[in-house]
Amino acid sequence: MGGKLVVCADPQELAGHVAAWLVERIAEQPGAMRIALSGGSTPKLLFARLASDEWRDRIPWQRVQLYWGDERFVPYDHPDSNYGAARAILLAHVPVPEANVHPMPTDGEPHDAAARYERLLQRDYGAAALDPARPLFDVQFLGLGEDGHTASLIPGQPVLEERSRWVAAVEHGRKEVRLTLTYPALDSSRAVAFLVTGAAKAAILAEVRSGNSDAPAARVRPVGELIWFADRAAAATSR
Ligand code: 6PG
Repeated sequence: MGGKLVVCADPQELAGHVAAWLVERIAEQPGAMRIALSGGSTPKLLFARLASDEWRDRIPWQRVQLYWGDERFVPYDHPDSNYGAARAILLAHVPVPEANVHPMPTDGEPHDAAARYERLLQRDYGAAALDPARPLFDVQFLGLGEDGHTASLIPGQPVLEERSRWVAAVEHGRKEVRLTLTYPALDSSRAVAFLVTGAAKAAILAEVRSGNSDAPAARVRPVGELIWFADRAAAATSR
């Protein structure tokens, strides 16, 4: 599967390194910057770092458009909400315009909510078909589950075969219904940045990067760059 591996000593050093990487990417690109945030616990240190006095003012938040790679189908104030976590740790502390923040809808019926988010993405992209030469996202942050899932592309679920919809509802495989970007949307990224920390992820990280894994995370093929940001514990058995 390849992709560049960047190893940092520990999760805090990783958060600082990724913050610097993100600031540089935003500085390199004029105009709107479409960034998709991942869920789970790993990105929370990055969110806190971006909200810190050291980094908050180094990002032109008015140019940043924020999206999510997946969401648990729960209210935004539910402890499992990916948007809720990002709002508490990051969004409440930085001057990103409200109109630039695009959480996945978790009201109504999941399949309809997925369709609503897909329409929002197509509105912002300006087309209903993805052009490999013009990626939908500038940066796509992703996490890695111990079972090889990423976003809510969960092993054994039909969503892994979805090649036309950009957003799908995943009704089985987790305790909550999920919404997730599909491979076409995830792959339409100028850069996909996986953030992986902890010894528990070492085996799956090595497997996914080995090139002979059918884990969902191993099937992400961005039109642009693929970068793995890992701490030493997670990268212990990777090359
Ligand atoms: C989610 C995430 C999921 C996550 C991985 C890693 O909503 O749970 O999108 O794909 O990135 O499960 O989770 P941790 O960072 O908590 O290990």
